[in-house]
Amino acid sequence: MSGDSMQDSAFTSTTATVFQDIGSGPAVVLLHGFPFNHSLWQEQAMVLSQRYRVIVPDLPGFGGSSLGESPVTMNQMAQEVVELMDLLEVNDATIGGLSMGGYVVLAFYKLFPDRVRALVLADTRAQGDTEEAKQVRAKQAEEALSEGMIGIVNSMLPKLFTPDSVTKRPEAVKRIREMMMTTKPEGAAGALMGMAIREDQTETLSRINVPTLILVGRDDVITPVVDSESMHAKIPRSQLVVIENAGHVSNVEQADVFNSKLLSFLDEIN
Ligand code: MLT
Repeated sequence: MSGDSMQDSAFTSTTATVFQDIGSGPAVVLLHGFPFNHSLWQEQAMVLSQRYRVIVPDLPGFGGSSLGESPVTMNQMAQEVVELMDLLEVNDATIGGLSMGGYVVLAFYKLFPDRVRALVLADTRAQGDTEEAKQVRAKQAEEALSEGMIGIVNSMLPKLFTPDSVTKRPEAVKRIREMMMTTKPEGAAGALMGMAIREDQTETLSRINVPTLILVGRDDVITPVVDSESMHAKIPRSQLVVIENAGHVSNVEQADVFNSKLLSFLDEIN
């Protein structure tokens, strides 16, 4: 936890969940992707917390949070988030997530719609895993447990950024690599198995009746633009923003654009 640029703000730990809670105003909860931790949102937390209360947890098994039971389902993760909101006395919030965080957001909406003021779905999708994807997850989970994070890092890292960013943003690539390497293999394995059995939320989309911002990097090869377009077509009150010169971690790669779109959305709905 120490050493990231969020270290000035307060970290608090419940029995299981490590999180950061900064700023005041309407609450915004941001959920990281796989295999990251809350610091994925450091650029957003810094900017948004000037006007909003930003809550960024480490999902179960990631960062400093306990793993609990494995596999960690998206519903279990959503349950941890609602318990954290209870603890912090946050009745409702804008709930946002990137990639796996987005899977949790959709599970959260289905379970606890009354706790949601608005949604943010970044570089994510509604469909469940194909059989082939499930097999890859099982293999990755085994490898993580036997060999550590290096295999996942080597296969994922080249897909996270655009080739241009790899050349021009070595510090961002290094930061993301380090974040992935510090993830505990048991946590990664638990989430991989949980993602493999996640529900297909396509049917949930047309029932979402809160304002929803969908963001995606133009060059995202993990959750491509077409997945976001299809969520946008189904979610009645949604807006879609395609971010140029960004891949899968669009919030890091094009933080300024991401932040300005997110802030305009929040200012509009709050
Ligand atoms: C993520 O960034 O959270 C993962 O790539 C999601 C996934 O593997 O489906």
